[in-house]
Amino acid sequence: MQPRIIQLPKFEDPRGNLSFIEEEKHIPFTIERVYWIYDVPGGQVRGGHAFKIQQELIIALSGSFDVEVDDGSEKQVFSLNRSYYGLYLPPGLWRRMQNFSTNSLALVISSTSFSEQDYIRDYQEFLKFRKP
Ligand code: TYD
Repeated sequence: MQPRIIQLPKFEDPRGNLSFIEEEKHIPFTIERVYWIYDVPGGQVRGGHAFKIQQELIIALSGSFDVEVDDGSEKQVFSLNRSYYGLYLPPGLWRRMQNFSTNSLALVISSTSFSEQDYIRDYQEFLKFRKP
C-alpha cells in the first residue's frame, strides 16, 4: 500500500466544525494507540525512523508541518495544514516530520501499542529491510 491523504468527514457548522475517525471505516486499521506531538521548537525534526508493522494516520490538528516519506527509492513530502486531512502511512516507510509552525499539534493514530522492537532507527538497516 502507498502513503496517501485521507479526507475525513467534516461537519461545517456556524458553531464550529467537527470531524471524526472510526476505525476500519475511515482508516484501514484498528486503533491501538493515540499520541500527539506538541510544543515543537522552531527548526526541530521529529521522526527519522521507520516501523516494521505499525500503520499510522497523522493529522495536523492545529497549525502545519511537513512529513517526508521515503520508501527506500523515492521521497515524497506531504504538507499537512488542515484538521480534516490525515496522512495514512503503511508500514515500512522512513518518515521525518519538520517545518512545524508555532503552536502546531500533530495527532498520530496508530495500529499498534508502543514497541521499540518495531522501530528501525538506522537508515542503512532500513534500506536492507526494504531491499533484502
Ligand atoms: P519517537 O517515536 O522516537 O519520537 P518521534 O518519532 O516523534 O521523533 O519517541 C520518542 C520517545 O518517546 C522514545 O523514547 C519512545 C517514547 N514513546 C513511548 O514511550 N510511547 C509512544 O507511544 C511513543 C510514540 C514514544
